[in-house]
Amino acid sequence: MTVLLATDASAEENHTWLRALSQALPGERFVTSRNAAVDPEIDVAMVANPASGSLAGLPSLRLIQSLWAGVNGLLNDASVPADVPLARMVDPAMADAMAQTALWAVLSLHRGFYTCARDQREHRWGMHEQRRADEVGVTVLGLGQMGSRVARSLVREGYRVAGWSQRARSIDSVHCHVGAAALPSLLAQTQILINLLPLTPATVGLIDMHTLAALPRGASLVNLARGAHVVEADLLAALDSGHLEHAVLDVFAIEPLPVEHAFWDHARVTVLPHFAAQTDPRSAAQVAAANVRALREGRALAHLVDRQRGY
Ligand code: NAP
Ligand code: GLV
Repeated sequence: MTVLLATDASAEENHTWLRALSQALPGERFVTSRNAAVDPEIDVAMVANPASGSLAGLPSLRLIQSLWAGVNGLLNDASVPADVPLARMVDPAMADAMAQTALWAVLSLHRGFYTCARDQREHRWGMHEQRRADEVGVTVLGLGQMGSRVARSLVREGYRVAGWSQRARSIDSVHCHVGAAALPSLLAQTQILINLLPLTPATVGLIDMHTLAALPRGASLVNLARGAHVVEADLLAALDSGHLEHAVLDVFAIEPLPVEHAFWDHARVTVLPHFAAQTDPRSAAQVAAANVRALREGRALAHLVDRQRGY
């Protein structure tokens, strides 16, 4: 049987993936394009932001393995067969990278480093209040693979960490909260809000004017999940009114962020190019390979997406 690699990556990146996957799965045949002769042979698709239609009409397809953690794009694509198991990327190396990005953002917000950068641009020798980490309330929305790892690393740095999830979670020294009813009081105690939710019908647009208004004046937002979680016009209004101090944004409604977008030049916005936690082919190929071996040997597949829940 044959593994289809379908991505929007450059030829060079695909080459890196093919090398890593061939090493992890010697004996498997890989293809990067389809034709009438090869289509019936394809039983596994490994995908990273594939073009719509890439997975339609594959009669033998038995596993779709996402090379990305987030699968909202695949779930929103009606051409992706809904009856084929869909597994997402769960790689501790990605969670480590996410924890590093979140820690950098939290330290920079807590210690006023973005304010210092603004002061430097204006040649201003500004002094800012110094707070202890345990005086800063950080809330992580989403306590899954990324959020739980981020929460643990912030606890280690001494922050007052809370988390929010759909089902009850228990993480040492993290104040875990569940469900929509818990959110307003949680937001009221939050100085730094980190978004690590999956993008689903329940979470799209969650960070809107109401959510932002529930944060105390001077709070900041760190969005590392998906752009559509945030209502961008509401975020800009909250920054412009001074209610929100700063936003660190890795993801956007439209990517790449259009050159004319207001975020680029906003003094209170830090823009990152959707690279908070990139998939690393060296480790991710092993994760994907383990699922292909499980399929071939008739064992249970790992990291399956619950299509009803949407993540
Ligand atoms: P995950 O393991 O599926 O975790 C999702 C978490 O969100 C779970 O704790 C889940 O609750 C919670 N959740 C889902 N819906 C909820 C709701 N309606 N209300 C409250 N909590 C809800 O996801 P992940 O792998 O950590 O990924 C998190 C996000 O990061 C995704 O959006 C992904 O696309 C994004 N991401 C971004 C990058 C980047 O480079 N920027 C890299 C990787 C991932 P339960 O625990 O109760 O299920
Ligand atoms: C990146 O955003 C991912 O979902 O892996």
